[in-house]
Amino acid sequence: MAKKLSRIRSFAVLMLACGITAKNVSAQATPSLKEVFKNDFLIGTAMNTPQIEEKDAAADALIKQQFNAVTPENIMKAEIIQPGWDKYNFDEADKLVAYAQKNNIKVNAHTLIWHSQLPAFMRRIQSADSVKKYFENHITTVAGRYDGKVYSWDVVNEALNEDGTLRKSVFLDKLGDNYIVEAFRLAQKAAPHTKLYYNDYNIEQPKKRAGAIAIIKKIQAAGVRIDGVGIQGHWKAGSVPLKDIEESIKTFSALGIEVMFTELDLTVLPNPWDNTTAEVSATAKSSKEMNPYAAGLPDSAQQTLTQSYADLFRLFRKYKKNISRVTFWGVNDGQSWLNGWPIPGRTNYPLLFDRDFKPKPAFFSVITTAKGQ
Ligand code: G3I
Repeated sequence: MAKKLSRIRSFAVLMLACGITAKNVSAQATPSLKEVFKNDFLIGTAMNTPQIEEKDAAADALIKQQFNAVTPENIMKAEIIQPGWDKYNFDEADKLVAYAQKNNIKVNAHTLIWHSQLPAFMRRIQSADSVKKYFENHITTVAGRYDGKVYSWDVVNEALNEDGTLRKSVFLDKLGDNYIVEAFRLAQKAAPHTKLYYNDYNIEQPKKRAGAIAIIKKIQAAGVRIDGVGIQGHWKAGSVPLKDIEESIKTFSALGIEVMFTELDLTVLPNPWDNTTAEVSATAKSSKEMNPYAAGLPDSAQQTLTQSYADLFRLFRKYKKNISRVTFWGVNDGQSWLNGWPIPGRTNYPLLFDRDFKPKPAFFSVITTAKGQ
């Protein structure tokens, strides 16, 4: 009983710290992110396959209420959308486009050129000529089909190493270091009405940021269009690199392009390594210490998450003229990739909505920042 009372007390303190009282929560019902930030930036979410197929009614209601932009979490990746040399599978992507059109939501298509999730046939290709043909066909066919139907494309995803050099990939290997410029050139031709972005994680970090700046400048110098840069935003609650993020917003904006936060989530779980990464191929072993909140998130961790989200959105609001979209990587905590990566079967709490689609204290702290608090 005493424990329960103390829990309730600390939760109340947390809500008060965010300017939230029982009275204004119930009076306002659930505020809408897309509404409160409508003069600032788009608010997006990643959508998984059941959501795109409208098989998840609770998520569906929340998406329509809260978000005005969506990014397909997986279904427009190369291995799904082009499973064979002459075989395309547009079913899911077409459903997403129809869903977005019906609900007046903008689609950020993700992604044309990425070293990961490549179809098996492509991974077997040896000759540079065939890789070039695949590269041209893929971009031209997929970007061309959705021009005017999607709002934007992550044309190239995660092309950089942490030190800012170009990541070793089949594209770099077979096409040379001009492949990124060429990807944008092809996308520009195939999708003249679609915004074109470079997207990566950790590019708020100085060395990797310098690599991203070099890519952007090279595209611009070639006279090719690039409209924006996506900083993914897979960070850790309690240690969000706010200074680096602020510096990045300023530096990228100075290049005359939009800045976006495209895959935002804040892990609350211990990191098995010293560094932070969103490298999908990284894995680590499961253990009890690595999964401390399986039975629920303690108030202290909840508070850290709430504070980090508030700090971040205060910063985003300060640079609302430069930021065009903030997208969360998933609808609710239970649907986040972070429950399965880098250690399978953990219980994480990285988003604004809990496993029952209920808004968390972090949600209200984010809403509060829209009022300039
Ligand atoms: O759909 C298949 C299913 O048929 C199969 O039975 C099952 C068995 O493993 O796999 C399912 O596919 C999985 C897919 O997610 C859908 O759940 C893949 O194995 C799994 O690798 C894939 O993970 C995705 C990952 O990218 C790799 O593509 C995550 O959902 C997705 O959140 C994550 O997103 C990436 C961004 O695209 C780029 N930036 C980093 C971000 C997080 O890793």
